[in-house]
Amino acid sequence: MSSNYQPLTPATVAFNEQGVPVHPRYGDVYHPPWGALEQAARVFLRGNGLPQRWQGRDTFTVCETGFGLGHNFLALWQSWRTDPQRCCHLHVVSFEAHPFNRGDLAQLLGRLTGAERGLADQLIQAWPPLLPGLHRLEFEGGHLTLTLAFGQIERLARQVTARVDAFFLDGFAPRVNPQMWSRSLFGQLVRIANVGATAASWCCAGEVRRSLRDAGFLVSKAAGYGGKREIMVATLRPGLGCPIVDTRRRDPVMIVGGGIAAAGVAQALSLRGHAVTVLDPVFTAGLGAAQRGHIAVALSPVISRDDDLRARLARAGVSRALQRWQGLTGQARPWRCGTLQLATTQADALEQQRALKELAFPSDWVRWLDAEAAAQQAGVPLSRGGLWFADGQRAQPERLLEALLTLPEVYCIGKAAARLGQTDTGDWAAFDAQGSLLATATQLVLANSSAVSSLLATLTQPVSLPKVAAMRRIAGQVAYFQGGKAGEAHSVVAGNGYWLPAVTGLCTAGSTYLPDADASHLSEKALAQIAQQASALLGLAQQDLGARPGKNKGWAGWRAAVSDRLPVIGRIDGYPGLWLASGYGSRGLTWSALAGDVIAAELRGEPAILERELLRKIAPR
Ligand SMILES: Cc1cc2nc3c(=O)[nH]c(=O)nc-3n(C[C@H](O)[C@H](O)[C@H](O)COP(=O)(O)OP(=O)(O)OC[C@H]3O[C@@H](n4cnc5c(N)ncnc54)[C@H](O)[C@@H]3O)c2cc1C
Ligand SMILES: C[S@@+](CC[C@H](N)C(=O)[O-])C[C@H]1O[C@@H](n2cnc3c(N)ncnc32)[C@H](O)[C@@H]1O
Repeated sequence: MSSNYQPLTPATVAFNEQGVPVHPRYGDVYHPPWGALEQAARVFLRGNGLPQRWQGRDTFTVCETGFGLGHNFLALWQSWRTDPQRCCHLHVVSFEAHPFNRGDLAQLLGRLTGAERGLADQLIQAWPPLLPGLHRLEFEGGHLTLTLAFGQIERLARQVTARVDAFFLDGFAPRVNPQMWSRSLFGQLVRIANVGATAASWCCAGEVRRSLRDAGFLVSKAAGYGGKREIMVATLRPGLGCPIVDTRRRDPVMIVGGGIAAAGVAQALSLRGHAVTVLDPVFTAGLGAAQRGHIAVALSPVISRDDDLRARLARAGVSRALQRWQGLTGQARPWRCGTLQLATTQADALEQQRALKELAFPSDWVRWLDAEAAAQQAGVPLSRGGLWFADGQRAQPERLLEALLTLPEVYCIGKAAARLGQTDTGDWAAFDAQGSLLATATQLVLANSSAVSSLLATLTQPVSLPKVAAMRRIAGQVAYFQGGKAGEAHSVVAGNGYWLPAVTGLCTAGSTYLPDADASHLSEKALAQIAQQASALLGLAQQDLGARPGKNKGWAGWRAAVSDRLPVIGRIDGYPGLWLASGYGSRGLTWSALAGDVIAAELRGEPAILERELLRKIAPR
């Protein structure tokens, strides 16, 4: 639990007498009067040997200590996109304790002219809600990524994973903003630096130079420009830094399992140009067969008063799902219909409102609605209020699976892996029950839900993962209703159970939980239990929920969960090339795209999309 939660304090628009943006609390300017883009080019790019240093590289990573208005980012982007010899992938990580809200940023960047203006429009379009933590933005078809770390750098620098080649040190003046120039911060920057990394800053203060040197940089001064005589440049001391990874290689990947977990990983790897082989016997009945008959599912953010790990992970998951799936077409694209999380009691309502106040999240991301407003928002009669999450979504899982599993370079084989092994060259191999080789690949992702342990046990050198070995299977059912007083619902309604907007006239109500059941099937008992739950949730008599369809009454399936109810995602230490994506419990859709990008980012040496403490929490060990 992160008990030391600190709400973000957004910046406000203010200018000094020269018309330069200032932060009133620090009493300092965002850039010198002779121009932000000029400073970016002459201090941060030139001081780091750019653009030359990214030429000939496949991937290059820049880390900036203060994002501010994004001028440095925009100048970097413009320089990169106009360089015919640019690296294929440019990753930027940037910290910001006081982000501007989208409207204010648009107003400030609206003053730009020239090529950067168009780039600024794209940045503003992609600008995330002002929520603490990491936000991954993508531009130029994913070739340029921006990982914004919203929060105090003194806490967040420890949480970032990256392989940085150039640092832009750009805080306010050390006198008013010492946190941005401390020895301990620079120590964290060295932790994420690549061999040969460089740093540059307009700040030449003796104390800053000493701190940077003590942290591991060789520091010197270079000629300045404008009103500045000198700038600071630095190079990581030989012997320090991570080795540079060759990202040109695209390892082939095999995924065992063809459900929601596998599809998220397949998509993330396909987007990055990997060939992916997916094995699942259900494919003989169609690519979406793992969710056949499950007409609708929900994915919704959650909050907790202290913004605990689960809430932070779910937030990241929902945001990844939006980013990855809103570009899909037809029924594969989840509907961003919003989620109403109803308060279950009066005490719960007070708790929800207290949490909102303490978290200080933006109201366009989450807000409290009283019963009347909630009913209007959801399109169903309601007698209680609750939290409104605009990012809540209703997905059609079978359609989604079909879309993700037919992406370029994804090859699906309708067979079960009965045994795993390794080839003479160290690749992973999967065999069927008759011992025939099904596929080989350098990287292997196990996404076969509760069956991961039994498959791991087939390795000649078995893997000990107590958390995974204790994974439980939980059977569950949903029921469908036609017409009725909540038949026109146009958002997800959740509380004890949930009610989803109709797909082809059928609303989905969920769900039952039967831990350690031998089988999962739709029974009259399960249907009655769901009807009772839905009626209590919506405050409707059971007969008002609508008719039960004659044939398509509902869906029965399985969840797999570990004790903390968080997913298990990541590399299995000690087994190069072996990964896990499992234990998704009741939130398969929330973890699917997230897991894909967690795994793909690590595989490709990109900045991680999650904080280190979150990655540790979901790691297989
Ligand atoms: C009633 C119910 C309602 C739910 N509602 C929601 C919801 O609204 N929102 C939400 O986000 N989540 C929901 N879930 C949870 C969601 O369905 C799961 O989290 C999700 O299905 C997990 O995906 P998975 O790919 O890990 O597992 P699965 O969907 O179980 O897929 C695993 C696949 O692995 C395959 N496999 C197993 N062993 C092997 C092998 N040896 N070789 C090859 N393939 C193998 C299986 O055939 C299977 O297709 C619900 C679950 C239930 C039961
Ligand atoms: C000089 S401005 C950066 C200008 C920016 N690079 C640009 O291109 O517009 C310094 C930035 O550091 C941010 N900052 C100050 N203290 C911080 C802290 N402790 N953690 C993270 N960011 C901080 C400020 O909010 C401000 O946006």
